[in-house]
Parts: sequence; C-alpha cells; structure tokens
Amino acid sequence: MQSWIPFVPESASTESGNVDALYFYLSGVTVFFTLLIGFVITFFAIRYRRRTPYEIPRPIAGSHTLESLWSVIPFVIAMSFFVWGAGLYFRNSRPPENALEVYVVGKQWMWKFQHSTGQREINVLHVPIGRKVKLIMTSEDVIHDVFIPAFRIKTDVVPGRYSSQWFEATKPGEYHLFCAEYCGMNHSLMTGKVVVMEPPAFNDWLSGNANQQSPAVAGQQLFQTLGCASCHGASGEGGRGPSLIGVFNSNVQLANGQTVRADEGYIRESILNPQAKLVSGFGPIMPTFQGIVSEEQLVQLIAYVKSLSSQPSSSPTPAPRAPAK
Ligand code: CUA
Repeated sequence: MQSWIPFVPESASTESGNVDALYFYLSGVTVFFTLLIGFVITFFAIRYRRRTPYEIPRPIAGSHTLESLWSVIPFVIAMSFFVWGAGLYFRNSRPPENALEVYVVGKQWMWKFQHSTGQREINVLHVPIGRKVKLIMTSEDVIHDVFIPAFRIKTDVVPGRYSSQWFEATKPGEYHLFCAEYCGMNHSLMTGKVVVMEPPAFNDWLSGNANQQSPAVAGQQLFQTLGCASCHGASGEGGRGPSLIGVFNSNVQLANGQTVRADEGYIRESILNPQAKLVSGFGPIMPTFQGIVSEEQLVQLIAYVKSLSSQPSSSPTPAPRAPAK
C-alpha cells in the first residue's frame, strides 16, 4: 500500500498494516507540529520585531485559558499514541491459542528453527500463508533479537527463558530475518530469511522433510533416558513426583500456597531449578538438570510434556477402552 515511500519494507502480515497506520499517524502529527511551530516562530519574529531602537514591549499578563489549552491538547495527543500503541502491543504479544508452533533457538551466530512436526532449519524458516504462527524463542548464549521487518515484528531472544511472538503471513515470498540485538563479532551476519508459501506448497515442503523426529517424540525418549519416568510416571506410577498428564497450561498448586500456570517457562524452570516452585504435596527431591540438558533438549522435553495435555485424555468421556458386552 505504501510501496511508493522509500525505505518502508514490504507489508506481508495481518498486523503490519496496523503497525504502519500507527507509524504514519505518529509521523503525521510530528510533521504537522514541526511545520506549525516553524511557521509560528517565523511569523511572530517578523510580526513582533523591534521597530525602533528603544522600543519597550507592552507587559503581558498570563492567560489561564491559553495555558490550560496548551497542556490539555498535547496530553490528549500523547495519550492517543499511548492507547493505540498499547492496544497493538497487547494484541501482538498474546499468541492465539491454535497457532502453529515453531521453536527458535538463537546462538552466536545462527538461528535454529524446529517445527512441531520435527523439521529442522537453520537461518531459513518456512511458513504457510493464512496460518497464525507462534515462535517460542530462547537463546543458547547471549541476547539476540528476532526481527522480521515485512511482518513488523521484533522480539528479544533471551538466554534462560522463553519469549514468544506470533504473526500471520499474507503474501507468498521471501522476507528478511535479522538479529536486531548486538550479540558479538558476527552479529551483522546473523541473518536469514522467512519463506512464505501457499498452504499446499508448504505441506509438500513439510512432507518432503519428514524424516526427522518430532520434538515431542525426541522428548519422550529423553524422558526415559534421563530417568524422569521413574518419578513422574506417565500414568502416576513412581509417585515421587507429580504426574505430568494434563499439567501443561493448567494451574498448579504450589507448596507455598501460591498457584502458578504451567506454561513453557514454568516447566523449563522446574527442570533446571526444581525447588524454585515446588508442587504442593511433594518433597524437594528432584535433582537439577542444569548443564545436563541443552536448550534443544529442553525444548524437546517441554514439547513432550505439552503432548501429554493435548491428547484426547483431557476429553470428558474416557476412550472406549472396555466396551460393555
Ligand atoms: Cu544475534 Cu545479533
């Protein structure tokens, strides 16, 4: 829509038009007042110039009306920036429920992506148009920042926690992906691209790369090899740790009386620092896995824990395991 303005990147997501609208409003208000103030300064300098060498200006008494106006009008204008911007920010920082999930791990100096069906990519991310895509992001070393100008999104990727961001692409094509946080010597080379495809082409691409294990399956194997299952048995065996079925996204009662929502960040913390938020009714017996599991393995373990909640076991009617005869 604004391709005639130089340096404005292509607009290729559902939200990019809204971000542009706010940006042009800000620019418009700024230009308007810059011109207005410049004009008024020039006009007054000429109109009220000193005409004789010993001229003494007429004394001016203050005006409450004028002072109120030049306080209230800028306040209203500034609040319009704030309300509009905050609305956009909240909408864009709350990923929708049914989004396609992609795990992103940043490291010096590359981007690693993994789809929930297992496909891995480096510095290239394939996504379909017309689907909401949620990025679940973390870093292996320092702070990076995912910046996709065509989608108008930019989010820090921080070691030690998960941040998320979502978008819905609207136009097939290839778009720049930048790291927007100075992260060391090769920061400027930490770039990539997002390939947006029509859904059939995307499905072809996915199935053409399907030889990789999904994170949830890899996580299940890790869960066995790390010995997690002996305490957190999938169907309650073990019993020394809480069962993990249905835990993801639920509210967990903690030993200290508080409640916490079991999101990605909570599960990650409970693996690395198990005593931080101990579940009510269980002792502080779990060892830390800090330094034992990598960021990617954490992603896999979390994907596995998630998969334990998305199964039909959460439906009110149990599976017809024993039909009455
Ligand atoms: Cu990563 Cu800059």
